[in-house]
This record gives sequence, structure tokens and C-alpha cells, in this order.
Amino acid sequence: MAIEGEPGSAAGYQGPRSRSFGSIAAEYAAHRPDYPAAAVAWALEPLADRSHPDVLDLAAGTGKLTAGLLTAAPRTGRVFGGEPDPAMRAEFARRLPGTPVVGCTAERIPVRSGALDAVVVGQAFHWFDPDRALGEIARVLRPGGVLAVFGNDGDFAVDWVAEHERITHPDAAADSTDDPLPLAAHPLFGPPADRAFAHRQRTTAAGLTATVATHSRTLLLPDAERASLLARTEAHLHGVHGPAVFDFPLVTRVRRMRRQPVSDPAAGN
Ligand SMILES: C[S@@+](CC[C@H](N)C(=O)[O-])C[C@H]1O[C@@H](n2cnc3c(N)ncnc32)[C@H](O)[C@@H]1O
Repeated sequence: MAIEGEPGSAAGYQGPRSRSFGSIAAEYAAHRPDYPAAAVAWALEPLADRSHPDVLDLAAGTGKLTAGLLTAAPRTGRVFGGEPDPAMRAEFARRLPGTPVVGCTAERIPVRSGALDAVVVGQAFHWFDPDRALGEIARVLRPGGVLAVFGNDGDFAVDWVAEHERITHPDAAADSTDDPLPLAAHPLFGPPADRAFAHRQRTTAAGLTATVATHSRTLLLPDAERASLLARTEAHLHGVHGPAVFDFPLVTRVRRMRRQPVSDPAAGN
């Protein structure tokens, strides 16, 4: 196992929105979408020559992307999670007993330099201090190792999904955490490659409203505003689907880039 040293401190852990998830860890696990197997397989494709790659799911939360790694790439016998929030880690441990999860931030990863084949990040890179996190991820990856960032979004080409987004996220244009792929090109990594995958979440009007209740921007609203937003969300979904089970159409975007095989003293290689 590549984990060593003390768990990372909370240094670099940004503002209250990034720390809002632990209070609803069980709801998060129950109502957030997972990731399609094809997207996970594509992210790890550059590691086809590695029989048992070491893979860290960074900001693993309750383990949604970790579960995808374990399913889509069972050869990866050495998958583990890294997550700063103890309540999210506890939920991870309940859902994925036997898969290690360590307390760490992206800015301080308790793993020795060059030990990992891949670092994956689901719906979380926007919470990181990007320069410090990229330096740290580059340090723990071996040359040629993969960094892959995943984002799940509604498929806004579908009218009722676009309306759902307008109701649940009226300030989307001004929200910098809303970029599904916030990872920019970086000199320690090769050029980014992107791929989008159609995905869906089997749910109901009440279930998708519960998903919206786990969004950090919803969690931080004053009680009355949050109740009003959730009531409007459920009324809209109920108007479209009634009480029936339906598929929420999603797009999963993945950006992957490979650790440059350069000699960089700061990266420890
Ligand atoms: C939206 S959740 C994503 C969880 C999981 N990756 C998923 O796809 O469901 C964001 C996660 O990022 C974690 N997080 C926030 N700031 C972080 C940081 N600086 N380093 C590592 N994780 C962080 C939060 O605790 C939370 O669990």
C-alpha cells in the first residue's frame, strides 16, 4: 500500500461550502449519481499495460467514484480513497468495507513520491487550491501516471432538465464551482484529453429533489429559502413525471492528463 506518514492536515481545505457535505453524508450517498463504467474505463485506459495499478480517489466523499473504480477496473487491487471530512469517510467505510480511505486534502496527500499510477477526482477539483493540489498530485504520481477529473451534469439539451437547472441553480453563470471540468493544462502534465459520456440516474421527483438538497449551494441557503427552492423543484418534477420512476439524463465529462516524464526536483522524481 502506498499510504505512508500522518494523514494530511486540513491545510488548503477551502471555505464553508467545501466543508458542507459531512452534515448530509448518508443523504449524499443515497441520492447523488454514480459514474458510468465506460467513463472510468476511458480515464484509466493509458494504464492498460499495468496489471495492478495503484489508484487514489481523491476527495472520495462517500466513495461513489471509488465504487466505479472497483467495478469497472477490478484488476486495480489497490484502489483507495482520500477524503478530509470524517463523516464522509465514515459513510465511505460503511458503503465500501475493506477499501481503505485516508484523511487527507488534495493539498497534502500522505503518499510517497512517485507511488501512484492514477489519481481520480469526482465533482471536487473546484474545491481545491489548484496550484498546490496539482503540485501535490504530480508529486505522488509516477511519470506517465494519470490524473483524471470527472464531472456529472444534467443533460441541458433536454427541455425539462434545462428548466430543472434554472430552478435549482439560478445563479449558475456567476458560480465558479459550476465548471464541470475546472482542471487547466499544467506544465507538470501532458496535454489534457476530454471525453463526454451519456449517463442517467434512476430516480423520482422526490428522489431528485433530495439530490438537489445535497448540493452545497442548497445546504448553505437560509432555511426558508432552501425550503422554497426544494418545493419549487419538486413541483416542477412532479408536473413533468408525476409520482413515476424516471431516468434523469446526465452527461459525465472526464478530463485526463498524464504526469510528464520530466526530472523536476520539486516533484520528487
Ligand atoms: C461534491 S463531493 C464529491 C465526492 C465524491 N468524489 C463524489 O464524486 O461523489 C466533494 C468532496 O470534496 C471534499 N473536499 C473539499 N475540499 C477538499 C480538499 N481541499 N481536498 C480534498 N477533498 C476536499 C469534500 O469533503 C467532499 O467530500
